[in-house]
Amino acid sequence: MSTYRDVPFVNLAAQYAAEREELLPILDAVLGTGQWVGGPVVEELEAELAREHNVPSVVSVGSGTDALRLSMLALGIGPGDEVITPPNSFVASTAAIVSVGARPVFADVLPDQTIDPQAVEAAITPRTKAIMPVHLTGRCADMPALGALAQTKHLYIIEDAAQAYGSTLHGRRAGTMGDVGCFSAHPLKNLNAAGDAGFVLCSTEAIGRRLLRLRNNGLHDRNTALEWGVVSRLDSVQAAVIRHRLRSLDRTIQRRREHAQQYREALNPTEVFVPPCEFHQFNTFHTFVVQVDRRDELATRLAQDGIGTGIHYPRPIHLQPAAAALGYKAGDFPVAERQSERILSLPVHQWLKPGDIDYVAECVNRFVAEWPVQRTGS
Ligand SMILES: Cc1ncc(COP(=O)(O)O)c(C=O)c1O
Repeated sequence: MSTYRDVPFVNLAAQYAAEREELLPILDAVLGTGQWVGGPVVEELEAELAREHNVPSVVSVGSGTDALRLSMLALGIGPGDEVITPPNSFVASTAAIVSVGARPVFADVLPDQTIDPQAVEAAITPRTKAIMPVHLTGRCADMPALGALAQTKHLYIIEDAAQAYGSTLHGRRAGTMGDVGCFSAHPLKNLNAAGDAGFVLCSTEAIGRRLLRLRNNGLHDRNTALEWGVVSRLDSVQAAVIRHRLRSLDRTIQRRREHAQQYREALNPTEVFVPPCEFHQFNTFHTFVVQVDRRDELATRLAQDGIGTGIHYPRPIHLQPAAAALGYKAGDFPVAERQSERILSLPVHQWLKPGDIDYVAECVNRFVAEWPVQRTGS
């Protein structure tokens, strides 16, 4: 048995220590321009992201939540409309739908945690205006099936790609398969700012133009407000941080994928459900989520072993107090509900040290091996 190790769930201090020397002069130069909101650095970032994804326009905003919310406003989604989305996401996906006055309608998920296209089809009503799949953990939802549905039923697709920068499905990048692709660059994301930030990949220039207005008080030019908007602009310092971190992102993703593969080889496959990574999927592992019985006890045991874990997310959105008025109840989405009791995110970040994964897997395997003994005793 290995000796005790400290394995934190995230390590942003390590990220900063590694980049500090190169990053500080860049930030100093940006601050020295006196252009602290918007400006050339923000425009260069948007242009770079548009080139990278081969989309006509990218609009940066203040957060991933604003990316979703402003995208829906740009598509004309509002009161009276329904948007179908999974109940197992971060609450922001649903909160964004509610914030534009539309109604979130939930559809259950598949064993791999992505939205079930058959459940989506069953949830469509004459009021449905859009589908918002979530590429949870960095794994793309079944976009071919959802795209076909959207086309037949004339629905928009708003990709919540907050957790999936760089992920692909059948070679297509997350965020480029719908009408809009919404990203978060929150510090905990693989591509992260040093604060809140987000951006939208737009499938048409018209959507991009409207988003540019909506994020800036509805202003068309300095003195002409064509409509009412909000303030959700990216700071130039955050844009510079993101641009700098884009340089090392391939390596970040590669490390996370290597760690996932090591877990896959080391974890006990009969007792621990590790979602498959199939040939047509390039997953970027924002989180590495296993499913186990007695999840809470395992998390406690791992904490005693020095291992940080997370639960993304312990309470499905339809069972949140804020969702009470939507009229859902426990049992409505059995797959998502069952998963919420069994999911556990293990450390997968790029700053793990040699031997960390083996140690975590050993601790997990030891715990699950005790299970049959305890089950007999209970
Ligand atoms: C799936 C998902 N959607 C939306 C968001 C919202 O992004 P932000 O925190 O940048 O507003 C997040 C952030 O955690 C997320 O994970």
